[in-house]
Amino acid sequence: MGKILVTGGTGYLGTHMLVELVKQGYEPLCVDNLHNSNPSVLLAVKEICGKEIPFIKADAGDVAAMRALFAEYQIDAVIHFAGHKAVGESVAHPLMYYRNNYDSALTILEMCLKHGSALVFSSSATVYGVPHFLPLTEDHPLSAVNPYGRTKLYIEETIRDVALAHPEFNVSILRYFNPVGAHESGLLGEDPKGIPANLTPYVAKVAVGELKEVQVYGDDYDTPDGTGVRDYIHVVDLAKGHVAVIDHIDKEGVFVYNLGTGHGYSVLEVIKAYEKAAGHPIPYAIKPRRPGDIAACYADASKAEKELGWKAELTIDDMAASSLNWQTKNPNGFRDAE
Ligand code: WQD
Repeated sequence: MGKILVTGGTGYLGTHMLVELVKQGYEPLCVDNLHNSNPSVLLAVKEICGKEIPFIKADAGDVAAMRALFAEYQIDAVIHFAGHKAVGESVAHPLMYYRNNYDSALTILEMCLKHGSALVFSSSATVYGVPHFLPLTEDHPLSAVNPYGRTKLYIEETIRDVALAHPEFNVSILRYFNPVGAHESGLLGEDPKGIPANLTPYVAKVAVGELKEVQVYGDDYDTPDGTGVRDYIHVVDLAKGHVAVIDHIDKEGVFVYNLGTGHGYSVLEVIKAYEKAAGHPIPYAIKPRRPGDIAACYADASKAEKELGWKAELTIDDMAASSLNWQTKNPNGFRDAE
């Protein structure tokens, strides 16, 4: 059996992916340019897996490096996470996002076609734009509302064009909702640099006293309690969803799946889940809406269940408890291990 190449493998999603692949009997290979991660994460992955995962420090967009990698290893499939992913940063630096995210996707596509490798592409619910209906099904109209989302949308469209020209190509496009939580060991977790832009790492830092109070961006949305509603999915369930498509790479064609729980939780409900996990109140303040935010976004996840036999199993309480466990054990993230 060949290797499963995980690009961006030292990131939050990538590390949890490496662990799940080993757990399910696959042989992962990790490539990352370490632009937004710390190599010490691989020590944590090794401790959990009980063995070293081959790691190549390279940029997924570096054609020479990828040619050498595919020449050295037999790659059965690529799980392509590598890319910039901060919405706000993409608005400030669109060209950096297009160059980085699109270049790496084109290089990986070329390698997959040349070597007959399957591709699993890390897309995002952000390609649905402002929902016309909820829950979101995979056939919901696609649009982008920021450069980050546009890179995902353009890469999806490119994949569809390439698959039309190469019917033998096996590619899965996985649209993530909001990945949160951490591996049960507390050795892996989300480790944003600086003040977290996303909700749950921010709430975790308030819960442990590192930040003062949660800034709730708006309580005047058309939602049950007025705060934003999202489909939070545990990162381990997300990783299992990727293994479910890897189990089916013998099929030709393009397969698109939502990876979500099908349930939306509001900001205040998330805070309540963290309070339950922490065993104490978590202070918050209502602030103005964040520009570009939508009121509600949650998945219809039935297609993945029907076609792959995959369904998210972990609850919002599991997500909060595991996230808090990671934060408590690693107050400075992976920087402690430097
Ligand atoms: C969640 C909810 C905020 C922070 C983004 C990307 C998406 C994906 C996941 C990559 C919203 C509210 C947030 C805070 C708050 N990333 N919030 N206070 O915006 O749904 O999705 O991350 O694929 O592509 O767009 O996630 O965690 O930033 O926000 O009240 O300090 O929490 O308004 O309702 P989002 P988020």
